[in-house]
Amino acid sequence: MYHEIDLDKVSLSQGPPQEEPGRQYYFMAECRQAVKELEGKLGRRPTFFAQTFGCQMNARDSEKLSGILTSVGYARADSEEADFVIYNTCTVRENANNKVWGRLGYLNAAKKRLPHMKIALCGCMMQEPEVIEKLKKSYPFVSLVFGTHNIYKFAELLSLALKQEEAVIDIWQETDKIVEDLPIERKYPFKSGVNIMFGCNNFCSYCIVPYVRGRERSRRPEDIIREIQDLAGDGVAEVMLLGQNVNSYGKNLDPPTTFADLLREVERVEGISRIRFMTSHPKDLSDELIEVMGASKKICRHLHLPLQSGSSRILKEMNRRYDKGQYLALVAKIRRAMPDIALTTDIIVGFPGETEEDFLETMDVVRKVGFESAFTFIYSKRTGTPAAAMEGQVPEDVVKERFGRLLEEVQRIAAEKAGAFTGRIEPVLVEEVNGQDPRLVTGRMGNNFVVHLPGNEGMVGKIFEVELKECRGFYFYGEVVGFSCIPILGGN
Ligand code: SAH
Ligand code: SF4
Ligand code: F3S
Repeated sequence: MYHEIDLDKVSLSQGPPQEEPGRQYYFMAECRQAVKELEGKLGRRPTFFAQTFGCQMNARDSEKLSGILTSVGYARADSEEADFVIYNTCTVRENANNKVWGRLGYLNAAKKRLPHMKIALCGCMMQEPEVIEKLKKSYPFVSLVFGTHNIYKFAELLSLALKQEEAVIDIWQETDKIVEDLPIERKYPFKSGVNIMFGCNNFCSYCIVPYVRGRERSRRPEDIIREIQDLAGDGVAEVMLLGQNVNSYGKNLDPPTTFADLLREVERVEGISRIRFMTSHPKDLSDELIEVMGASKKICRHLHLPLQSGSSRILKEMNRRYDKGQYLALVAKIRRAMPDIALTTDIIVGFPGETEEDFLETMDVVRKVGFESAFTFIYSKRTGTPAAAMEGQVPEDVVKERFGRLLEEVQRIAAEKAGAFTGRIEPVLVEEVNGQDPRLVTGRMGNNFVVHLPGNEGMVGKIFEVELKECRGFYFYGEVVGFSCIPILGGN
């Protein structure tokens, strides 16, 4: 884990070292000088604005970007009127890309007002060659572009971008490197994501992630545990272990290990009260994992288990490597071991060739499982994936109609599931003061249900026993009945 180093003491006289992370500390020191010079020119502290699109893994990456920007002397701004603006992009669906193109138009105008502004783009969308072509051709005001594999080199690339006028564009096709011990600025003081692996080897036929995030690489368990111990020492009560497919964690390590084993070790870290993880691919979910979860006092009673489709035929076309029956059997096994577990999922509507019968199979699984919550997506064609070339792309009006029916069913079931908790007393980790009503705070139960309750800033980051007074569909209004000073058990 990164421990504050005094960048002013890093010697810049001998050139950058080759090995990491020392090389990046060198460039952080260089950036620090450049930022100081800028401060002299502007007569105020330079600012940065970082915007994240996409998943939790991108959110964690952005904390690393912010960590470096803060260490080199930038102050965080809360709008794009900043001296350095970075977008950490996502490309999982077309609308994620569209958002970035839209915002770039706005940034172009902002840069006209602040000509010294530097604009940077990174993340998954930058791994697509067409995106880079388009940027080079039509977006000359972007100063720095890098991808997912070389994010650890951010300080080095930033240093170059601060020195030169021409754009710095550096995209790698792949990496097997994992660089530890770079600065991180966490968004929340009391909870944190922790990467346990990077990349994905599954190649679901609709999905672009394996192409933009590269092959699966697991971090060493000792590095993960060290990071979690440091987080606990820093006041973090809840960790979310992150990976595209956490259930295959450790298979390629030497010596190999398993996700279940890692969880056993995380459980032993003192000071951590709640452990979450995502995402679990159903094909790799082991009995050992169910056993570890069942016996755990800290692992939250929540499993995100993406279904994608309920039709065995479509699942085969999606290359998911389980069928409807196997998914339902897995759910039954999990529920037998942990009757109180909350199950959530991801579902895609309108995969190429999806018929009304296929869609009804999805509705059937949704009803049989009774998900506590589900993210529903309209299929988005991603260039370069096998599904993009498949016959039978479903017409938009048909997809929209199915999507509407699915959403209604998912919401009806979720409300029913949540409603059953009304009147219960549950531990709630308070996460923030409510954005709409400052007399309320908002927190989460172990099973991930959201609860609003009367409170104040001082309650943030603590776990309270809350009576769930009223259910409003997906969330609750509650009232504190007690404060838990001992570590609280996730969702029990
Ligand atoms: N690794 C995770 C998912 C990462 S992407 C897993 O396998 O579960 C998050 C979700 O986006 C996926 O579960 C899927 O439902 C959705 N998704 C991915 N590609 C998509 C596409 N081309 N169109 C629509 N939804 C997509
Ligand atoms: Fe995409 Fe499938 Fe990998 Fe998830 S498991 S990231 S859906 S390829
Ligand atoms: Fe998007 Fe990349 Fe995550 S494509 S969903 S930000 S892994």
